[in-house]
Amino acid sequence: MLQIKSFIVFCGLLALTSALLEGLPLPLGQILPLGPALPLKPPVPVDQTLPLKPALPSNPLDLPAHLTSALTNGLLSGDLLGILQNLPLLDMLKAKGDNSGSLVGGLLGKVTSVIPLLNNLIEVKVTDPQLLELGLVQSPDGHRLYATIPLGLVLNVKTPMVGSLLRLDVKLNITAELLAVRNEEGNLHLVLGDCTHSPGSLKISLLDGIAPLPIQSIVDSLTAVLNNVLPELVQSKVCPLINGILSRLDFTMAHAIIDLLIHGVEFVSKV
Ligand SMILES: *[C@@H]1O[C@H](CO)[C@@H](O)[C@H](O)[C@H]1NC(C)=O
Repeated sequence: MLQIKSFIVFCGLLALTSALLEGLPLPLGQILPLGPALPLKPPVPVDQTLPLKPALPSNPLDLPAHLTSALTNGLLSGDLLGILQNLPLLDMLKAKGDNSGSLVGGLLGKVTSVIPLLNNLIEVKVTDPQLLELGLVQSPDGHRLYATIPLGLVLNVKTPMVGSLLRLDVKLNITAELLAVRNEEGNLHLVLGDCTHSPGSLKISLLDGIAPLPIQSIVDSLTAVLNNVLPELVQSKVCPLINGILSRLDFTMAHAIIDLLIHGVEFVSKV
């Protein structure tokens, strides 16, 4: 309530300032509700209770860039790339293979070669982990942000069924929802909401050109299993990192963002 009030004051001041600048008669109707003794000051931050430091992005347009760079830096310093490189994929894939026919068979329909394939995997190694450029969009109602975290890696797969190493290029987008919530003490925080991958945001392709048919069918089987395992695995590693980053976010930046989200002010382009 206090915030809405100061927001109204802010708007009133803006109207007053621009009216004065333009030498127009004051729009009395808009100023009256603010009370008679309002001094004319330069526009103030939306929430005057927040200690806004001058070093801060005073221009809301800078906030998206500051936020994406804070997220990017936080992910990298949280060793995202090391985490991707050490994903326990071989164990997880073998576990899928051991998990008798019913589960895997059901998931994969008529792909019958998959269980021996999984059981015979010798090595599944991640190389070239990458964090690509983060994207940021705002929900249509303005109250939430969605950060797209595009990840890339290469899987080196060794299996006796294929003489040479299979190299798969993997791209996956994780989407993290950011929203402002009030905790029990009544303080507003920027927190992680949903953190997930959208269906179809996992893309797997064979590096090194086109494979002969039998190899392609192995690639297809692997892709089907990875579709089932990889996004959840990556999410389970990446989402806690985002949570940590949000909790350590620069206070002033976080509160500037919270203010805009609470008021549903568009400062990032919408979905
Ligand atoms: C990830 O999202 C970006 C847009 O933010 C899109 O261009 C790209 O194709 C997506 N990648 C995948 C693997 O879906």
